[in-house]
Amino acid sequence: MSILFTPAKIGTMELSNRLIRAASHEGLSDWRGRPTDEQFLFYKGFVKGGIGLIITGYAGIMQSGKSALFHMTMIDSDELIPDHKRLVDRIHQVGGKIVLQIAHCGRQTWSSETGKPLLAPSAISCGFYREKPKEMSEEEIHNVTEGFAMAACRAKEAGYDGVEIHGAHGYLLSTFLSLHSNKRADKWGGSLENRFRIVGEVLKAVRKSVGMDYRVLIKLNTYEKASDGMNSEECALISKMVGQTDCCDAIELSCGTSEDGFVMARGEFPTDAIFNYLRPYCNYSSEVKFCMKTFVVPFVKLKQPPFSEGYNLEASAKVKQLVSLPIITVGGMRSKRFMEEVIEAKKTDFVSMARPLIREPNLPNKFRDGISESASCVSCNQCVVASDTRSIRCYYKKPKVDS
Ligand SMILES: Cc1cc2nc3c(=O)[nH]c(=O)nc-3n(C[C@H](O)[C@H](O)[C@H](O)COP(=O)(O)O)c2cc1C
Repeated sequence: MSILFTPAKIGTMELSNRLIRAASHEGLSDWRGRPTDEQFLFYKGFVKGGIGLIITGYAGIMQSGKSALFHMTMIDSDELIPDHKRLVDRIHQVGGKIVLQIAHCGRQTWSSETGKPLLAPSAISCGFYREKPKEMSEEEIHNVTEGFAMAACRAKEAGYDGVEIHGAHGYLLSTFLSLHSNKRADKWGGSLENRFRIVGEVLKAVRKSVGMDYRVLIKLNTYEKASDGMNSEECALISKMVGQTDCCDAIELSCGTSEDGFVMARGEFPTDAIFNYLRPYCNYSSEVKFCMKTFVVPFVKLKQPPFSEGYNLEASAKVKQLVSLPIITVGGMRSKRFMEEVIEAKKTDFVSMARPLIREPNLPNKFRDGISESASCVSCNQCVVASDTRSIRCYYKKPKVDS
């Protein structure tokens, strides 16, 4: 029997297999961030498709951390609990397990979205969003820590099987961890211990609010493009500190930030999708399009690390040497044999996928039943570009071979 379909535990939660749906912003909540029927149907597809665990797209813990992407799910108020509960109950009824990812977007959003000043460890803007954040005060750090704890408490009340704290991709917590974005000289910056402090505080506060048996996961970056950004050695040490808090049940490993471009979701540079996206905003001519395709796109591609299957695995193997917590690795996992091999080689305990499951929610069953050996996702990244303004779906036109 394939190792992918052997059961394994995250904390007290037993999963029927090693395949996890990685958080992918859905844009399916309503204007206030309430989960909708469409969201349930979307998740139900994964349950029917055989996934071991769903991790939801990121949910905002407070208004100051709201995403600029289309219709972020929110968990910033008790008033939202009944809508979340309705979603979770229905997922449980169809036999699924679901963890809510909780996040504060930090400097990767716009104040026009949040209605509040952007928050970050230091007053340095992100190269993509380009709005200067304010350096957080002690009080604001405390409020955010409490915000995570309260959000986790609401998730538990709604019945989610656990929460995943978003500590990756350039959002607030990861900007504290990275020397590239954290230039503080106080106890929240400088040494690795200091940069980790807010994450440790959040983990402890969350654990205190949800109790010992509830599942708490965290997503961390193994790599950032900037030379002073996160690298796999630092990530391994941070993961060890996460383990030492005794407040976490599993670590998911990813990479990249918004200003890093498509590093986290490696693959194609979605030229056409970006042109379509920009069309309403600028009146570009065919010459501009030609120049972009001929000069700009190859240049951007040159600066990106190439796609290779399981591109965060080298780092996760390092983390596994230092940490006994279950490790989930995301990023470019595409073929069944490869996933089996890396679990057998103990480079990771679980495999999570985002883009392949947008295209084929039933990929786990196809693997199990021998219908497919590899995902048909071509990593064209049109789904990533579209998440700014539209709900989630696969935009790649070529028909699926297997379904
Ligand atoms: C449309 C889209 C939305 C995403 N939204 C999130 C998110 O809300 N939270 C998160 O941690 N990662 C998010 N990601 C990143 C994925 O979880 C994952 O790290 C990345 O896509 C690489 O994995 P893959 O090769 O399996 O797609 C998103 C990815 C995609 C494609």
